[in-house]
Parts: sequence; C-alpha cells; structure tokens
Amino acid sequence: MARELTEVGVVGLGTMGAGIAEVLARAGLSVTAVEVGEDALARGRAHVEHSTGRAVARGKLEPAERDAILGRIRFSTALEDLAQAELVVEAVPERMELKTELFAQLDKICPPDTILATNTSSLSVTELSVATGRPSKVIGMHFFNPAPVMKLVEVVRTVVTEPSVIEDVEALATRLGKVDVTIGDKAGFIANALLFGYLNHAVAMYENRYASREDLDAAMRLGCGLPMGPLALMDLIGIDTAYEILDTMYKQSRDRLHAPTPVIKQMVTAGLLGRKSGRGFYTYA
Ligand code: CAA
Repeated sequence: MARELTEVGVVGLGTMGAGIAEVLARAGLSVTAVEVGEDALARGRAHVEHSTGRAVARGKLEPAERDAILGRIRFSTALEDLAQAELVVEAVPERMELKTELFAQLDKICPPDTILATNTSSLSVTELSVATGRPSKVIGMHFFNPAPVMKLVEVVRTVVTEPSVIEDVEALATRLGKVDVTIGDKAGFIANALLFGYLNHAVAMYENRYASREDLDAAMRLGCGLPMGPLALMDLIGIDTAYEILDTMYKQSRDRLHAPTPVIKQMVTAGLLGRKSGRGFYTYA
C-alpha cells in the first residue's frame, strides 16, 4: 500500500517550482515552498498568485478556493522548515553542484524516511542520490511546463530506488491528477530525449534563415497539430533551461542531434531567455 503523503516541500520557486507548489497545494497537500532569498521568494509567491488569479478570472476557480490553495503554501527562506516534510521536490537550476549540495543539506534536515525527489530534466538522478546517505529514497519526479496544465509526470528510478518509494510517488502523481510514466535514469528520460532534438533542429532552421519564426511555428501547429510551434515552445521552456538540457544530453550521448545550436547559447548570454525575461524568439509584453 502506498503511503498517503500530506506534508511536502518544494525547493526552488522558478517557473517549474512555483508551478509544482501550486499543483501540490491544489491537491490538498500542505506545502512548504523554499527559496534562497526574499526577492526570489517574492517572485515565486507572485507566480503562484498570478497563476491561481488567472484561473479565478477565467471562472475555473472560486476566490475562496484560491485563498485555500495559497493558505496551504508556507513560503520560507529556511531549508530547516522542511524538517517535517514526507517528500521534498527539488526544482533549482539545472546545475549538478547546486543540486548535490542541496541534497546533502536536505539529507541532514529531513527525517530518514523522507523521499527526496528531483525535477531535473536531464541530470543524473543516481549522481544526486549518492550525495545523500539515503540513495534508495531518491527519485526523479519530472513535471512539464506549465506544471498546473501538463498531465505528465515522469517518474525516474535509479538502480537503487526502493520499489515502495516508486509506488508512493506514482500514487502521489495520481492524486495530483497527473498520469505517470516510469523510466530509468537516462538523460532526457522519455519526453525530452525525443523533444529536444526536434527543438534544436527547428532553431538551426531558423538560424540558417530557412524560414521565418512565424512560418516554422505555424507549420508545426497547423500541419502537425501541436499546441505550439517549436520556437514559441523554446520561449515557454526558457532558453537557458533548453540550453542546459541540450548540453547535458549532448555531453552524455555525443549525438549531434543534441549539440546546442550556437544561437541558443548566444541568446542566453544576451539575456534573451524567453517568456520569463520578456524576450526570446518572440517579444512578450
Ligand atoms: N500556468 C497555469 N495555467 C496555464 C498556464 C500557466 N503558465 N498557461 C496556460 N494555462 C492554462 C490556462 O489557464 C487554460 O486553462 P483553462 O483551460 O482551465 O482555462 C489552459 O491552460 C489553456 O491555456 P490558454 O487557453 O491560455 O492557451 P492554450 O490553449 O494555447 O494553451 C498551453 C497553452 C497549455 C501552454 C499549450 O499551448 C500547450 O500545451 N503548449 C505546449 C506545452 C509543452 O509542450 N510543454 C512541455 C515543454 S517541455 C518541458 O516542460 C520539459 C522540460 O523539462 C523543459
């Protein structure tokens, strides 16, 4: 029987972490949401307020429900506030040293049976697990952007993840209204391994002036039935995140499909990060 988790934590409240905190709170769980500093914490809180506010404006959520969701999230800058959490989802930037350091800290703060989950898109869950004294309780729980909307959660098991931990996380995904798929610890898991070669190719076509950004996106939306074209999707994912994912997958596989198209790195350097910075392949108000 899977454990019914009630007290959970999220660390890192960027686009993904804030979305994950919202999803958990919407499902009735009590969430401690942690960021490093007051500014980042305020941005994370604003993200959840904006997202739930938008649902209210669209008539999808009652104002009282929104207040209840926000009331279930305790925003904090102290990792120590995760001392009661039964599961923590890490969603800090995709840098291994940042994540291993965080996992080592969480290992000291959280009780021994707390599940430590990572939302990493492409880094090795196994490598993260051995930064703790509880590798069998470490697992990947990979959400998709926007987390409140996308139905999929990839559950990533390592060779030492306990079966009961997998069961608990799968049961949680179901409670969140998501569909889970389970996969071993391979860069890109299922969805990103298939998606990012395509996105990278689309960027190369744009860089080579093969077609305009609008035409590239229209072709995939209207010709292939995708909800968004590849360049608009790059902007949604974040150009920096997309770069990190491609770079990690390329380093692991050496498959040219994933060698980041040069303009992606240039955009990151120039601060064109997509929707979150107001400009990427497109400009946002
Ligand atoms: N946060 C919360 N809710 C959002 C949202 C957001 N950022 N964006 C849209 N929504 C909600 C809207 O409120 C709306 O909800 P209702 O139907 O309940 O009213 C619903 O989503 C549809 O939104 P819109 O009508 O505004 O727009 P749309 O129909 O064009 O859908 C979209 C927007 C859901 C983003 C859709 O375009 C889509 O599915 N795009 C593809 C997204 C995708 O591929 N994501 C995966 C990226 S890869 C990844 O995330 C993995 C990784 O590791 C990087």
